[in-house]
Amino acid sequence: LSGRAKTGATQNEQDFRWTPEYWQNWRESRNPYRQFKSSRDRQLAVQLLQLRAGESVLEVGCGYGWVTQALLGAADIRWVGVDASAQMALQLLAQTPAAAHNVFVGDAHRLPFRDAAFDKVLCSGVLMHLRDEFAVLAEIARVLRPGGRLVVSMNNALSPFCLPVMLHNARKTAFVQSFHFPGTYLRRLRALGLEVRTVQGDSIFATVSLSAGRFCFPPRFVFPALRSLDEMAVRRLPWLAYEVWFAAVKAELACAY
Ligand SMILES: C[S@@+](CC[C@H](N)C(=O)[O-])C[C@H]1O[C@@H](n2cnc3c(N)ncnc32)[C@H](O)[C@@H]1O
Repeated sequence: LSGRAKTGATQNEQDFRWTPEYWQNWRESRNPYRQFKSSRDRQLAVQLLQLRAGESVLEVGCGYGWVTQALLGAADIRWVGVDASAQMALQLLAQTPAAAHNVFVGDAHRLPFRDAAFDKVLCSGVLMHLRDEFAVLAEIARVLRPGGRLVVSMNNALSPFCLPVMLHNARKTAFVQSFHFPGTYLRRLRALGLEVRTVQGDSIFATVSLSAGRFCFPPRFVFPALRSLDEMAVRRLPWLAYEVWFAAVKAELACAY
């Protein structure tokens, strides 16, 4: 299920663009659902990557560094980031001097790195917004070393929020957000020689909030109750989560003799 960009005659200066202002407003919003999702994203990235000191870690679509800051705080890693937006990269450098010299502006569909260059690769909250997310998944697998670990997230077509979010997005131009069934991702990862170790959902009900003017769905006042309900539900039913995270390990090279 995919909400595709409207192009050609309908394109104008109102078209959606990823900018640090837009994304920082979202990530650091006062809306409790967004705050919860933003902190959960950091937590899942650190937990699933299983970082160790000295490892080389690539973050694809690093944005202005919201998750990056958590990775750098978790272990003494050699971090490298790539994002298509130069503005995002500049904002990341301004806020995270520890990442200096390691941010690249580039397209995830053609990562500017050699094969097997990284111990770990993270791509969270990005694949669903790309023109050809499965081509990017193959690129990620290419730059990961054999035995290395990748962590990626996808938007879930089984989520109760899938349809409302797609309807909400229909008014945006040049905005891509695709939803897939988790089984589709499992098959794609396996076809790329990746052994899936963990499948985890972010949350089922307390994950996104759709707002129009002063109205917010789900309403803010039910957030505390939804959050507690969610903690129980998502452990048993990760397949219903809004965003599903996969941690997978690339197969070691087969011995030729
Ligand atoms: C939803 S934001 C997520 C940012 C970050 N991963 C986070 O969790 O805060 C999506 C990011 O993907 C980047 N992006 C979009 N298309 C891209 C592409 N083709 N190649 C690399 N990055 C891209 C955007 O510039 C934006 O920073």
